[in-house]
Amino acid sequence: MPRTVRLAVIPGDGIGPEVVAEALKVLRAAVGDETRFEETHFSLGAGRFLETGDVLTDDDLAAVASHDAILLGAVGGVPGDPRLANANIERGLLLKLRFSLDHYVNLRPTVLHPGVESPLAAPGDVDFVVVREGTEGPYVGNGGAIRVGTPAEVANEVSVNTAFGVERVVRYAFAAASGRRKKLTLVHKTNVLVFAGGLWKRTVDAVAVEFPDVAVDYLHVDAATIFLVTDPARFDVIVTDNLFGDILTDLAGAISGGIGLAASGNINPDGRFPSMFEPVHGSAPDIAGKGIADPTAAILSVALLLDHLGLADDAERVRGAASDDIAGRDGSTRSTSEIGDAIAARLAPAA
Ligand code: NAI
Ligand code: MG
Repeated sequence: MPRTVRLAVIPGDGIGPEVVAEALKVLRAAVGDETRFEETHFSLGAGRFLETGDVLTDDDLAAVASHDAILLGAVGGVPGDPRLANANIERGLLLKLRFSLDHYVNLRPTVLHPGVESPLAAPGDVDFVVVREGTEGPYVGNGGAIRVGTPAEVANEVSVNTAFGVERVVRYAFAAASGRRKKLTLVHKTNVLVFAGGLWKRTVDAVAVEFPDVAVDYLHVDAATIFLVTDPARFDVIVTDNLFGDILTDLAGAISGGIGLAASGNINPDGRFPSMFEPVHGSAPDIAGKGIADPTAAILSVALLLDHLGLADDAERVRGAASDDIAGRDGSTRSTSEIGDAIAARLAPAA
């Protein structure tokens, strides 16, 4: 009996549907007969909001949550579109999915693939993964404002850090490091954010005892931005909070060949809820509809999806095929579907 994986697909807006089509093509080419993906496509995002006024209803959420995993393209309209002024797709859709489905690990690998030019003079061997906390920190919406719009306005945005929340993501990061080059770097700002920083530091120290094979390092977030540029090869696994992780992973994308290659997973390691895999980039309205978006980030997100489903061999083959394709790029323009076809073709069983 083949295993059936129920996959919720959220193509989204702009280039989202274009890159998701190629990602699904590669997914189908990668998995053998033992696994069958049963896809449900959801219409969510700016387009749906403009049509119906809904961002993510309770019914949508329940339907998405009933799947085994989620593949998302990108959501969001043209920045500044006045019709979307009150939509708040970021909070109402993306963050709502991450929080409701308890995606407490936001996994963002950074690899400088052979053949890719980095803007750094001497990037070295770049291969690290950021484990960003996904359900706490300053992104939880714990705040408020009074006297808005007056000179006496007060605005609070409180960072939430729980012992439970920090420990589970730190534990995940140690396990990840243990399966890689065995180095973990905590990034925080413990000298200034002493309350949250203290909790993070003590938690890392406590969990480290269980992973004697993993070397532990600590960097303040400002220093981390220096080393990501001057010596990115020093990193293996970085564990950090929601806000720092958001910022550092954009920098990581920039040093490793750009937004067209950066993949991510929003993971619920307990498996109580479906995990969600998506390229880091947005809906790129400036190039949408032209068929020129690079689908590689979405395709590498499929590799993370396969890892999560326990299909590590298939995941490795997808990464290998993407990496070989990247290595052969010569600067000539290929369409979105030409790149997808080329990577899928590398996965076809030998005739
Ligand atoms: P963006 O990532 O969509 O685009 C930034 C720049 O990168 C643009 O010049 C775009 O053409 C280029 N780009 C992005 N992906 C590309 C790809 N695969 N191949 C080639 N070039 C690519 O970010 P931007 O412009 O700030 O946001 C556009 C919309 O996307 C907004 O509505 C924003 O809210 C939304 N967004 C959604 C995200 C998500 O769904 N996870 C993440 C980031 C932004
Ligand atoms: Mg971001």
